[in-house]
Amino acid sequence: MLASTRATLSLPQLISALSYALDLTEGHQMGHSVRTCIIGMRVASEIGLRNGARGDLYYALLLKDAGCSSNASKLFHVLAGDEIRAKRDIKTTDWSKFGWEAVQYALRNVGVGSPLLSRVWRLANVAASNRTHSRDMIKIRCERGASVARKIGLSQRTAEGIHGLDEHWDGRGYPMGLRGTEIPLLSRIMNLAQTLDVFRQERGEAAAMETAERRSRSWFDPSLVKAARSLHRRGALFEGLDAADLKSRVMAMEPDGSELPADDCTLDQVCEAFAEVIDAKSPFTYRHSAGVAQAAVTIAQRIGMDSGTVAMIRHAALLHDVGKLSVPNSILEKPGKLDSHEWDVVKLHPYYTLEILRRVGGFGDIAEVAAAHHEKLDGSGYFRNLTAATLSLPARILVVADIYDALAADRPYRGGLDPDTVFGILRKEAPHALDANCVEALAMSVEPTSVQLARLNEALGESVPQIAPMAAA
Ligand SMILES: [Fe+2]
Ligand SMILES: [Fe+2]
Repeated sequence: MLASTRATLSLPQLISALSYALDLTEGHQMGHSVRTCIIGMRVASEIGLRNGARGDLYYALLLKDAGCSSNASKLFHVLAGDEIRAKRDIKTTDWSKFGWEAVQYALRNVGVGSPLLSRVWRLANVAASNRTHSRDMIKIRCERGASVARKIGLSQRTAEGIHGLDEHWDGRGYPMGLRGTEIPLLSRIMNLAQTLDVFRQERGEAAAMETAERRSRSWFDPSLVKAARSLHRRGALFEGLDAADLKSRVMAMEPDGSELPADDCTLDQVCEAFAEVIDAKSPFTYRHSAGVAQAAVTIAQRIGMDSGTVAMIRHAALLHDVGKLSVPNSILEKPGKLDSHEWDVVKLHPYYTLEILRRVGGFGDIAEVAAAHHEKLDGSGYFRNLTAATLSLPARILVVADIYDALAADRPYRGGLDPDTVFGILRKEAPHALDANCVEALAMSVEPTSVQLARLNEALGESVPQIAPMAAA
């Protein structure tokens, strides 16, 4: 199974598909990173950027928001509101100056729905520490994004490009306050390209160019604005950005010689790096994807699956919650019970997992297995209410591994439950909802030997000689 994934794997396709998940976290329509990549590569061609640097730019553009999940929780706590909406809103706000735009932004996003007094207090607090919060938030995001790029095996120049995304030509950007040509050229192109896409999507092409012109020399390198202007006059800047074949257009733009090897090692690195992006979304899910992958591999190996299928299950497990990047932290970290609307939002996350992963050629099995991780054998799961008749063995493994990790892993608000309690809960759900063989396969690896022997003796009954634990050597 892995062989077929590898044979058809295309890194640009995989990374551009995963960039759709980053769009969801940033509150953009899916496709923002891909469109930004196309715009940025056009500007790069216009200024004659040489081929090696264009390859670095290509991946930096697709992964520019790779650090976006890491500040979501902090932003939610600062604003006490829907951080995804706030992130979307900030893209059309000039946050580098304290003025009417910034005030309006705060009124739209800070403490919305809170009682008046607490909202006023929070607004005052945000205003007083605006610059510190902004710098900290962007610093976390930039550093994390650069680290994801390095983890995937991309170049230092790509990582630096992502790190400098929010620096401004006039030195008022973050996190370093770099000025003019101190800012890496890749970052300058990326900042202009993302702003052009956001304004074009929200307000049209003319507004996008008008914003670029207005922010020339404050946010943007004037020579890049000039290049964008020239492309726009020739109708070449935004051409085809609404086309249905956007995916193939962006794939065709990968510069020659910049291809990463599409091998098992790269696939592992991309899946592991994105698992960290997913888990960074909330402290509640810290290391969850890696934990699920470990449990799923344990079950699959214990059941005797071949190495290709085990690898496929591991990749599905690492990416199973990629759709969770669409859920605001105000829901993920809500202290009380979720209302029915909030539950509906949560239940959509496996749907987004499917939507994102099925865009990758050769990922059909991975997408199906990953998207089934909340399904149950009796049809009581979500989001498709699959049943025993349609749930594959790899999917059943992932369902058990997901619940196991949720119960057994440490959380900020409680320690992990002990194996007795965890398997008590899992066994209560088997075989009607969970696959009993998968539960027992995991138990064999996790439960202490003494518990397994006790269980075996219980099964053998009193008429048969009991098995005693081996003495320690
Ligand atoms: Fe999930
Ligand atoms: Fe999960």
